[in-house]
Amino acid sequence: MCGIVGYIGTKEKKEILLDGLQELEYRGYDSAGIAIIEGVKLNNFKAIGKLKNLREKTKNYTSDGFGISIGHTRWATHGKPTELNAHPHLGAYSYVVHNGIIENYQLLKDELKSEGVGFLSQTDTETIVHLFEKYHNKSNKAFEAFEKTITKLEGAYATLLITEAAADTIFFAKNGSPMLIGFDKNEVYFASSDTPIIGKATEVYYLEDGEYGYAKEGKITLFNSDGKKKFTKQALTANKALAQKDGYRFFMEKEIYEQSRIISETMMGRILDDTIALDELDANFFDGISALKICACGTSYHSALTSAYLFERITKIRCDIEIASEFRYKEPLLTDDTLFITISQSGETADTLEALKMAKRAGLRSLSICNVDNSSIVRESDATILTRAGIEKGVASTKAFATQTMVLWILALYIAQERKSISKEILHKEVDAMIHTPKALIVTDTLHEKLHRLSKRYLHGHGFFFIGRDIFFPLALEGALKLKEISYLHAEGYPAGEMKHGPIALADSELFTIALMPKTMHYEKIKSNVEELSARDATILAISPLPFDLADDFIQTKYDSHPMLEFFEMMVVTQLLALEISVRLGNDIDMPRNLAKSVTVE
Ligand code: M6R
Repeated sequence: MCGIVGYIGTKEKKEILLDGLQELEYRGYDSAGIAIIEGVKLNNFKAIGKLKNLREKTKNYTSDGFGISIGHTRWATHGKPTELNAHPHLGAYSYVVHNGIIENYQLLKDELKSEGVGFLSQTDTETIVHLFEKYHNKSNKAFEAFEKTITKLEGAYATLLITEAAADTIFFAKNGSPMLIGFDKNEVYFASSDTPIIGKATEVYYLEDGEYGYAKEGKITLFNSDGKKKFTKQALTANKALAQKDGYRFFMEKEIYEQSRIISETMMGRILDDTIALDELDANFFDGISALKICACGTSYHSALTSAYLFERITKIRCDIEIASEFRYKEPLLTDDTLFITISQSGETADTLEALKMAKRAGLRSLSICNVDNSSIVRESDATILTRAGIEKGVASTKAFATQTMVLWILALYIAQERKSISKEILHKEVDAMIHTPKALIVTDTLHEKLHRLSKRYLHGHGFFFIGRDIFFPLALEGALKLKEISYLHAEGYPAGEMKHGPIALADSELFTIALMPKTMHYEKIKSNVEELSARDATILAISPLPFDLADDFIQTKYDSHPMLEFFEMMVVTQLLALEISVRLGNDIDMPRNLAKSVTVE
């Protein structure tokens, strides 16, 4: 999704902006641009496509001396991905970048047009710069004009504005889209997440919704609706190592391999002998709670679906799962005996965040399961359990799914333990399985090589069905989503028992069925579902610890003592299958077409 970087100071600004935007590349974008004002020297560059196009355009340009600068990667919402629609947007003497959506932009644009203002782009963002200049032309006071501008905006925004009228100042505002300010001595940085400023700034302040102000002479003047506001900076980590590819071909590949190590971090300090500890939660956190409602999008939604089986089975508490974008508009019945859980890798997904705000307004207690500390969802929640997956750069989520599912499993056991609704023997069995999870997640050369070879038979056909039962149904959904995202082939996840209620009509030798056949969970049932497909000549790739004669291809898994171990091992197989098919198809694995890492618009 769109990314913002800003810098005010004496360092070379072009490189700071381009490096910062590079760090945000993984979020997905289709054009990029920068604007720099040094005294009276004003420079603006834009390019569609990858950042290397912008680098090429700016190769003969260097900025020196004091200046103000802003940059942006755009993921098109209003208007096509063209240079004219790329940010920064120019007025007569000012530039603006913006993330989010200005909902009343059409009204504002019509008003401005009727006053004779010309628009170059089809974007909602351009209205901001023209509004600013309209007010500035009247008052000649830059901050006053900026303040007036943002009071006119409805919707979500994080915005930076620079103007020749105040060539030593960056104006900023945040409402509903993430934005932070980094500090190092007299240098001030802005960004839509902390990765662009790690290694540059030493301290950070995460702006709250409704805050705005300006940066000048190394200082921030901050306001909200109550007027001028004090704020406290916090230390910013300097560790960027996690963001490198470490010799793997793709971030996604690296992230699949990392899962075994990272899952141990997710468990660290939370699994103690035969007890579960979640220090993040107050002792009375679950008091009065008799139902769980989990809300998420995409992959995070699939981990939620998986957990519903675990919660109801282990805790005996009712658990409903909601797709955030549906939940928001269905006028849900919310009662305060329900714990509202959101799951999000990024912590910035607009629909999930808004669903959380709705639940809070209805008086529900909230818990988030998130990978990014200090993200909007984390800050909005009453409590958070961090997944500790480290930065996930591949747009197709892998380790986030593994760690979310692990946290949810831990949480189910924790609730059961605290409510004394689980026997010592069962808790011991669960903990024992958990401890073996890192092994089940190891990618062996043999497995990877086998999937590489096998993938060449799955490049055509008229579609994939991933099928499974119980927790292996959400895993089938997730396997299909992974394949869709990076191969651009049509794939569906389906409950195995439902195939005969319609989809089996599609079965022929060009229908590829990826059958998740765990030994520990309804093996005989899924076996007969797969036999029905085989009888109709569907091509079957079976994933199971038990040999299956009717399979055209077979991946034999090793861990067969607990459903969750089978789940995690099969998850890796489906991830590698998607990866290898997509590599053969020559696709952009880490930045698949049309997708964004963090979906900050609804
Ligand atoms: O950051 P979130 O977990 O809230 O993101 C939710 C979805 O946008 C995300 O899982 C998306 O489906 C991924 N591309 C899946 O690989």
